[in-house]
Amino acid sequence: MKAVKDDLKDLPQTQLDTRAAKAKPVKMGWSTEEVERITAALNDLLANYSVHYQKLRNYHWNVKGPDFFDLHEQFELQYTESLQHIDDIAERIRIFSKTPVSTLQEYLEMSEIKETASNLSSELMVRELITDYTVLLNYMFTVVEVASEQHDAGTEEMVKKFINTIEKHHWMLSAFLAK
Ligand SMILES: [Fe+2]
Repeated sequence: MKAVKDDLKDLPQTQLDTRAAKAKPVKMGWSTEEVERITAALNDLLANYSVHYQKLRNYHWNVKGPDFFDLHEQFELQYTESLQHIDDIAERIRIFSKTPVSTLQEYLEMSEIKETASNLSSELMVRELITDYTVLLNYMFTVVEVASEQHDAGTEEMVKKFINTIEKHHWMLSAFLAK
């Protein structure tokens, strides 16, 4: 035991040479153009997801009628989950040292998913959300495609998990509408 401790004293403090030790941290292995492509796709997804999130809150608050209890709760489950996905997407963009779109103004301008009024029937709310999922899935597929082309396994893995959950919501709300 003592011999091991003595050996540790001989270990260098860093594996880097002096110049490398003083330089900025080594960037992850993607070129500027590659990072631009990945983060642009992530930002498009982020903007759409953020508008979708606010729609879920709108519908959670304003749903009425015999489906109130089911949908009020289901919308809350979904917006809580969306919030986590949105945070993961924005932080993934920061991992690449880029800026996630962060203002409501940018979200509304960039998003293909559009806001609606608050006084919709419960059926129309569900139809709106099913349409949102289809749009979100398309943006997610684009992110996965771009990430996989750049060998960005981290982004790919993250968004594939989102795809699983959105596909499940798509099924559940479609089943809700089935007569
Ligand atoms: Fe609530």
